[in-house]
Amino acid sequence: MPLGGPDRNPVNSENQQTVTLTTSGPEQTQDIGRLLGEYADAGDVFLLTGDLGAGKTCLTQGILWGLGGVEYARSPTFVLICEYPARLTLYHMDLYRLDSLDEVVDLGLDDYFLGDGVCVVEWADKGTEAFVGDHISVHIEHIGDQSRVLKVSAESSRYSSVIDALTKRFSRLADANEFESTQGEAN
Ligand SMILES: Nc1ncnc2c1ncn2[C@@H]1O[C@H](COP(=O)(O)OP(=O)(O)OP(=O)(O)O)[C@@H](O)[C@H]1O
Ligand SMILES: [Mg+2]
Repeated sequence: MPLGGPDRNPVNSENQQTVTLTTSGPEQTQDIGRLLGEYADAGDVFLLTGDLGAGKTCLTQGILWGLGGVEYARSPTFVLICEYPARLTLYHMDLYRLDSLDEVVDLGLDDYFLGDGVCVVEWADKGTEAFVGDHISVHIEHIGDQSRVLKVSAESSRYSSVIDALTKRFSRLADANEFESTQGEAN
């Protein structure tokens, strides 16, 4: 069975909604995560990509706080999955150490993805082909010491309200620099 959230709404590339936000410090990235956590529903899946130190764990910290969790999420370096209690249980996964799609599939993560918690996957690009259910993608680009560009996108109407909320609440962070002009282009 393919991994990813349950396919409750049809995925249609015409439905794709994207917001691109530039943060100028970790707290702003955490604030974006906090909103994602506040809006999260049971079964939501966040697929995070970006280089080492981009800010994937930083975003996850905010997601946990937005879910009402009080812990400080850290990269699950030695274990593959960390579980945090919150309004909805957060399953924080890090695929960095995996080398192939087969290894990702062999983990048998379906129970997490199809369960009632919220899944956040760092280095989701290690298993792109496996994650076909509804999800929100967040790609983080390191553009300066304290500067990061977060491209948040979803292809399902399931996530429309959170993308709308991000767009409104963080409008001051949108389209802040030239990099933003790539928004909407295929890449
Ligand atoms: N705007 C920003 N957003 C997020 N993190 C930032 C920002 N500016 C500086 N940082 C710093 O960058 C680092 C991001 O580290 P983090 O562990 O979140 O990255 P990561 O993408 O999870 O890396 P890894 O792939 O190693 O797990 C932190 O030290 C954080 O303080
Ligand atoms: Mg990390």
